Amino acid sequence: MRIARSALTLLLALWIGLLPVSQATAQNEPTGASAFAHVQHLAGTIGPRVTGTAAERQAAEYLAAQLRQYGYPVEFHSFQFPFFEARQVQVQVTGASPRTVTAEALFLTASTPPSGIEAEVVAVGLGRPEDYEGRRVTGAIVLAERGVITFREKAANAAARGAVAIIVYNNQPGITAGTLQQRSDIPAVTVSQEDGRGLLEAAQRGGLRLRVLVDAVHETRTTVNVVATKRGTVRSDEIVVVGGHYDSVARSPGANDNASGVAATLEAARVLASIPTPRTVQFVLFAAEELGLYGSAAFASDRRQGVVAMVNLDMVGWGERLMVGNTGRDEAIVTTAVQAAQQAGIQVTRFRSGSSDHVSFERLGIPSVFLHRGVDPNYHRPTDTPAGVEPRHLEEASRLVVAIVQELARLRTG
Ligand code: BES
Ligand code: ZN
Repeated sequence: MRIARSALTLLLALWIGLLPVSQATAQNEPTGASAFAHVQHLAGTIGPRVTGTAAERQAAEYLAAQLRQYGYPVEFHSFQFPFFEARQVQVQVTGASPRTVTAEALFLTASTPPSGIEAEVVAVGLGRPEDYEGRRVTGAIVLAERGVITFREKAANAAARGAVAIIVYNNQPGITAGTLQQRSDIPAVTVSQEDGRGLLEAAQRGGLRLRVLVDAVHETRTTVNVVATKRGTVRSDEIVVVGGHYDSVARSPGANDNASGVAATLEAARVLASIPTPRTVQFVLFAAEELGLYGSAAFASDRRQGVVAMVNLDMVGWGERLMVGNTGRDEAIVTTAVQAAQQAGIQVTRFRSGSSDHVSFERLGIPSVFLHRGVDPNYHRPTDTPAGVEPRHLEEASRLVVAIVQELARLRTG
């Protein structure tokens, strides 16, 4: 009896003694499951997070709450950006047998008056300057095929010749979205290749009239980057920034692009909370990347003071292998990242890319490295859901971030 009791006491003591250790281990390793929970919340529960919308704000609040829970002070860094939204788009064939043609607004299109514009249609080939020779388009709606020159150039060429609107039909089956890169002078929409060919034939026969209606919002809005700060123990004035964008394109839940990068950042932040670093680390989740890197550009220009390095994660939940790189301006930080990966036992390949938030920092001469896993088939589509994201890839990205950040946030001599 006594033996049994002392054995029990011994077991109990062992169990209690082991408890904090096993808990500490669990807290100090990133896990795919906890990272994936963020992807599920951001992309599954919240869904598309278009910059300037309530959903994006809801995501910002969620991120702030998570980071506060890990013990960090959190702030919102706000900035302004040009908001655009196409509220209504209609294209109708008028005349004896009216019908509606499915159309999409080109990003940054001008609006028509509320009742629309009705005019004759003139086909202009690809819409290059030479395609207008011998054609009068003043007061007309021009119909151009997609390709060879940009949507922006097509719209500008049409506007310069007095056209009142432009319809671009696809050069592949189906309809396409697209951007004008800047606000156009005339309304600009797209239609499918099939509809476009039908309109082309009717226009060539002569007398085709269309009514185009575009109701688009262009306004200056404010949104926020979410910033959590882990104060350095030795050189707190030197800052390593790590993060990625949390906004998505319209109609896409943005699970891989880029709830994945955000989730891996949060998971790394959770683990790093109990690991002191000589330099300060800031976890920054950026808004408005998909519109043209607005969030990271605003942050880099407002908060560049003291920033010694930047680590960006974008699309880390799908694909063969993790890649590390940047635009090619600074190879040393990529080498540092590759070495950190080797030490952590993570296989990576080097690559070059200039299409995400690290570019905003590189432009200011701040050494930056981009972690990415390749472009998945659901990229910018409604199918970019949590089902396409692998928890083990998130775990690997988080582990790599922890390794790289520790390397960048320590003090080096020489
Ligand atoms: N996640 C993508 C960037 C990306 C795509 C990086 C493929 C590497 C490979 C990002 O959100 C995006 O779509 N960026 C835009 C450019 C940005 C400046 C608006 C793009 O690549 O079209
Ligand atoms: Zn992205």
